[in-house]
Amino acid sequence: MDKFVIEGSKNLHGNVEISGSKNAALPIIAATCLCDGPCVINNVPNLADINTMLKLVENMGCNYSFANNSIHIDCSKLKSTKAEYDLVRKMRASILVLGPLITKYLNAIVSLPGGCAIGVRPVNLHIDALKAMGASVNIEKGYIHATAKKLKGTEIYLDTPTVTGTENIIMAATLAEDKTTIYNAAKEPEVVDLANFLNKCGAKISGAGSSTIEIIGVAKLTGCEYEVMPDRIEAGTFMCIAHATHSTLTIKNAPIYCMHAIIDKIKEAGADVQIKDNDCTVISHSNILPVNIKTFAYPGFPTDMQAQFTAMLTLAQGTSIIEETIFENRFQHVAELNRMGANIVISGNKAIVNGVKKIYGAQVMATDLRASASLVIAALAAENTTEILRIYHLDRGYEFLDKKLQALGARIKRVSQ
Ligand code: EPU
Repeated sequence: MDKFVIEGSKNLHGNVEISGSKNAALPIIAATCLCDGPCVINNVPNLADINTMLKLVENMGCNYSFANNSIHIDCSKLKSTKAEYDLVRKMRASILVLGPLITKYLNAIVSLPGGCAIGVRPVNLHIDALKAMGASVNIEKGYIHATAKKLKGTEIYLDTPTVTGTENIIMAATLAEDKTTIYNAAKEPEVVDLANFLNKCGAKISGAGSSTIEIIGVAKLTGCEYEVMPDRIEAGTFMCIAHATHSTLTIKNAPIYCMHAIIDKIKEAGADVQIKDNDCTVISHSNILPVNIKTFAYPGFPTDMQAQFTAMLTLAQGTSIIEETIFENRFQHVAELNRMGANIVISGNKAIVNGVKKIYGAQVMATDLRASASLVIAALAAENTTEILRIYHLDRGYEFLDKKLQALGARIKRVSQ
């Protein structure tokens, strides 16, 4: 298991290139199982989660190669429609194969993902939607068994705008009979990226990005070549790094159009932000100001940026209140940040972050992907040396984070234990 050793309290400078979006690439790889023909997917980040998804579809009979951030993949003829527990337990997003398998092969056996570090994370809305489209679904020995004669479009109202749930329903509906309408759909840009990919393959999806999405089923989808959108969470993480370390960083190829909530909060926290096309320069001359944050579904402030802002705000001149409304257990970074000298109190779903003048290096433990990113931010801003253990969480979602930081002047080392 690798760890990061970071010597903090150093200004960074330079340009950092943002990688392709993990949460857009994952459903797009799953969606290639719908296509009768090969696909080329470009700008795919080389991450543990992406390799888990590729392994999952390979086990079902897919052929692929992955080099230079491009995947050449042919999932036209799967030999199996079973997603085994061994891979699903490594990555919850494996549930994304359920929609494609049941609509194309009329049969799917997918392990239930179970909970994870940030919450219980049920998939009841995915299952209810497939049942409403005519699938019979049983849970047996921890597996979802779904069968159907043919899925049929219908009207689906989501109790909560689940991201992967919306993606699963869109994929299932592309090859279903007639029209499916999803109300209260997730509006996240990654949902739009999936819809754009599928439309390029011949699907008829309209309204992605709004709360009502309509899908008219088609007989088949072809393959296509597609470029995955850049990662807004990685871009936001570098914005927090810039302000936490009082640096000037230019974040290149960021999806600025979908980052309003993040950019507004960085500005409110006192950073100067200059935008030119897809590049964003964050200049941090002044002190960090306290801000209040409440996480919401898009276009609200993303839960995937909550931990990183919490880390940055430990050094603010005053008290910030951070409210987490999406996941019930997403404050695991707080105890570790407090071990570094932060003053954060948890009260229900709120973290009250009382800014301190300095935080100090310590040995800390990464618990989930975004919590790990928050520890890197804290370590870069802290006095002395921090060791972050269990960084395999970071490798799931940040491509070459250590190398990108080294290029900006950070003193960060990956050490194998
Ligand atoms: N929910 C239900 N029932 C369902 C599905 C969801 O009650 O059937 C609830 C969840 O428990 C949660 C809320 O709905 O309280 C929203 O969860 P959602 O389903 O939207 O989350 P997800 O699709 O499992 C994706 C991202 C997460 C991101 C969330 C929220 C992917 C692969 N994952 O998860 O990303 O936090 O949306 O934006 O797209 C990450 O990248 O670190 C990460 C966790």
